[in-house]
Amino acid sequence: MRWSSGTVAVVGLGYVGLPTALALLAAGAPVVGVDTDPRRLEAVRRGRVDLLPDDRRRLAAHLGGPSFTLTADPARLAGADAVVICVPTPVDARRRPEPTALRAACAAAVARAHRGQTLVLVSTSWVGTTRELLLRPLEARGLRPGQDVFVACAPERIDPGNAAHPQHTVRRVVGGVSPECARRAAAYVEPVAAGIHVVGSPEAAELTKLLENTSGPSTSPSPTSSPPSPAISASTPRRSWTQPPPSPTASCPSSRARGPAATAFPATPTTCCGGCAVNGCPRR
Ligand SMILES: NC(=O)c1ccc[n+]([C@@H]2O[C@H](COP(=O)([O-])OP(=O)(O)OC[C@H]3O[C@@H](n4cnc5c(N)ncnc54)[C@H](O)[C@@H]3O)[C@@H](O)[C@H]2O)c1
Repeated sequence: MRWSSGTVAVVGLGYVGLPTALALLAAGAPVVGVDTDPRRLEAVRRGRVDLLPDDRRRLAAHLGGPSFTLTADPARLAGADAVVICVPTPVDARRRPEPTALRAACAAAVARAHRGQTLVLVSTSWVGTTRELLLRPLEARGLRPGQDVFVACAPERIDPGNAAHPQHTVRRVVGGVSPECARRAAAYVEPVAAGIHVVGSPEAAELTKLLENTSGPSTSPSPTSSPPSPAISASTPRRSWTQPPPSPTASCPSSRARGPAATAFPATPTTCCGGCAVNGCPRR
């Protein structure tokens, strides 16, 4: 099938973003890879990066080609039909979110967003992030989510580098601000996943990922075996729910390799009650 969804900007070309960019390229998308770290860009240009064999072949095939642009310049986001945000979201020594990179990436995307663009948050983060860092700032710019721009959260669920569960075998959860937002975001997630499971809101998608990070190592034969529970709903964040499918990200060697500040983003009281993860909880 020919790619018909325009140019995709992938923001953050790390363990998650680079394979995402390569999967989109394989699907036929023109991709602009944006990373603020010049050493990372140089490593990608030279092919000196950790990748599974299939992704290594894809990188070799697209480096220097017309479809794959590598840049540190966030101005290139303005020309994209979709922006897929894959920047790091470490926690500090007290397991609180350290959102500097995420705030910067979202602010860069919001500042350059235009009518018709789709913005997808892939990074793992606290419940309410998509609304706080994308939706509200877009509204403040006069862009109506669901009409002018399309906003969703579709957290990555893989364990990058785990050959037993490569990216394309893992189903993804997509939570849009509206059904149209979810539909548009799914067009950019489907090429990199085994399937899509749409939930009712960005918060439901954010919470699904946090629960997976906290639920322990995978015990199921495959993360593709069952979709996440539709019982998870942002409107009822404290009700009991069926556990989402075990995820290989629960044991994440590549994240651990980055040191204590990069350990898996946890589901804790400060990350699960939206809007208060960083600034303190107003309900206390
Ligand atoms: N690594 C994993 O196992 C894994 C699995 C599932 C989900 N995740 C989540 O995916 C997200 C990305 O993780 P990762 O492991 O790919 O991180 P990473 O550290 O490997 O890569 C992130 C990249 O983003 C770049 N970056 C930082 N700030 C930026 C900015 N403002 N604009 C553009 N680029 C910027 C960095 O230079 C880096 O190259 C995180 O939220 C993480 O929790 C990670």
